Amino acid sequence: MPNKVKTICCIGAGYVGGPTMAVIAYKCKHLKVIVVDLNKDKIKSWNNNDLTKLPVYEPGLKDLIKECRGKNLFFNTDIKGSIAESDMVFISVNTPTKENGLGAGEASDLKYVESSARSIAEFATGHTIVVEKSTIPVKTAEVIQTILNSSKKDLANRTNKSFAVLSSPEFLAEGTAINDLLYPSRVLIGGESESEINSLIDIYKNWIDEEKIITTNIWSSELSKLTANAFLAQRVSSINSISALCEETGADISEVAKAVGTDQRIGKYFLKSGPGFGGSCFKKDILNLIYICKYYGLKEVADYWNQVLKINQWQQNRLTNIIVNKLFGTLTNKKIGVLGFAFKANTNDTRESPAINICTNLLLEGAHLSIYDPKVSENKILENLKDSIHAKLDSFEIKKSVTIATSYEQIASGADAILIITEWDDFKEIEWSNISELMRNPAWIFDCRDIVDLDKFRETELNIWKLGHGSNIKNLK
Ligand code: NAD
Ligand code: UGA
Repeated sequence: MPNKVKTICCIGAGYVGGPTMAVIAYKCKHLKVIVVDLNKDKIKSWNNNDLTKLPVYEPGLKDLIKECRGKNLFFNTDIKGSIAESDMVFISVNTPTKENGLGAGEASDLKYVESSARSIAEFATGHTIVVEKSTIPVKTAEVIQTILNSSKKDLANRTNKSFAVLSSPEFLAEGTAINDLLYPSRVLIGGESESEINSLIDIYKNWIDEEKIITTNIWSSELSKLTANAFLAQRVSSINSISALCEETGADISEVAKAVGTDQRIGKYFLKSGPGFGGSCFKKDILNLIYICKYYGLKEVADYWNQVLKINQWQQNRLTNIIVNKLFGTLTNKKIGVLGFAFKANTNDTRESPAINICTNLLLEGAHLSIYDPKVSENKILENLKDSIHAKLDSFEIKKSVTIATSYEQIASGADAILIITEWDDFKEIEWSNISELMRNPAWIFDCRDIVDLDKFRETELNIWKLGHGSNIKNLK
C-alpha cells in the first residue's frame, strides 16, 4: 500500500526532468524533490550559481530554480541514494530512435528506460511508485514492471520491496515549458491501481484543477502521448503542404490558415507554416508509431503517418531549391546569412532543427554561411553541422564555410541572401533599411517563418520571398 509521498526523485535532468521537477518543487513545498542524472556536467550546470548557465533555457525557469534549489529541490548524481529515499520515482530519460539492430531507424531505443528501471529495482526501498514520464511505445509499462518484479525475486533479502507503475506522459512544449506545466490543458495518468493513481493526483492537485486530470488505463495513456504528437505534427505538415500550393496560386498562407482555423471544429492552433517541424520528439514519436503499426500488421496506418514525415522533409528540401533558383542556380562562393538555429523560438534546443538540414543543403551547394542565434552556442551549431554534413561528405571542412556571427551587421556584410529560419521576436524588429546597405545586390531575404513586416522593406533595394505567399513580393520599391 502506498504511504503518503514525501520524496520524489526524477531520473533524467533534461528538457523534461529539469523544468517538470522545478515546477513540482515550486508548487509542493512540502515535498523533497531530487533530480538525478548520469551526466556530471549537466548536474553541475543545474547547480551553477550563474542562472544563465543552466543546461536548459526556458522563460521563467531560472526564477523557479532560484526559489527552490537547495531548499526542496536538489540536483545530483547520487542515483542510488536518491532512489532509496524516494517514495515516487519519475523516469524522464531520453527515448531516441534506435540506430542499430531490430527496428533500427524506427523503433524507440529503450536502453535508458531499461537501465533506469534496473536502478530503481536495485536501489528502491519499501513501496515505490514508478511514473513513466518519458515518451515510450505502448506496452512499455509491462517491460518496466517485469524488470522490477524479477529483481524483487533476485534480492531475496529485500523482499519488503514493492512497486507500482503509472504512465503520466508529459505534454509540455519547449519554449513555453514553465507555462505549460503551471497551466496544463490536461494531465494524463494511466494505471491499474486507484490508490497509486490517487497518490499522483494528490501531487498535481496542489496547483491543477482536478477536472483537468484525466485517468485512463495504462495502455491508453501510453498511446495517447504518441497520438497527440502525431496529430500535432500532422497539422504542421498539412499547413506546409498548402503553403506550397499558395505560392503557386496567388493565395496567402496566413489568410488561408486564419480562414480555416476559425472553424472551431478545426481550431486555430498549430496552423503556422514554416520550414518544417523540428524538435526531439515529433519525428521520433511518429517513427515509433509507424514501427508499432507495422509490428501489429497495420501497413496502411503506418504508410499514412509516414507521409507526415515525408512532407516535412520535402518542405526543407523545397526551401533550399527555392533559394538556389532565386540566386541564379548556384551558391558557389556566395554568402548567405542565417537567422536562427534553434528548432523554434525561446529555446536553446537544436535537436532535429530544420536549420540543420537546410544549412547542410546550402553548404553542399557551395555557400558560405554566417549564422546567428540568440541562445544557441557556437559549439552546438558547429557540432550539429559537422555531424550532419559528414554523414554526406566526409572530407568537408566546416570551419572554412561557416562562421558564427554576433551581430546583424556581420550577417549582412557582403551577403547575397539572408534566411530567417527561427521565429525569434528580435528578428521581427530588424531595421532592414540598415541591413540592405551592407548586402551585395541583387540581395534576397527569405522569410521561412513569414514573420517580417513588408512595410519595413518598402524603402530598401532588397528582394523578399515569403513562405506561402503567392503574390509577387519580390521587390516592393
Ligand atoms: P534529454 O535528452 O534532454 O534528457 C534526458 C536525460 O536523461 C539526459 O540528461 C541523460 O543523461 C539522462 N539519462 C539517461 N539515462 C539515464 C540513467 N539511466 N540514469 C540517469 N540519467 C539518465 O531528454 P528530454 O528532452 O528531457 O526528453 C526525455 C523524455 O521526455 C523523452 O522520452 C521525450 O520524448 C519526452 N518528452 C520530451 C519533451 C521535450 O519537450 N523535450 C516533451 C515531452 C516529452
Ligand atoms: C511538442 C508538443 O507540442 C508537446 O505537446 C510535446 O510534449 C512535445 O512535442 C514532446 O513530446 O516533446 P515541442 O517539440 O517542444 O513540443 O514544440 P512545438 O511547439 O510542438 O513545435 C514543434 C515544431 O513544430 C517546431 O519546429 C515548430 O516550429 C513547428 N511548428 C509548430 C510549426 O511549424 N507550426 C506550428 O503551427 C506549430
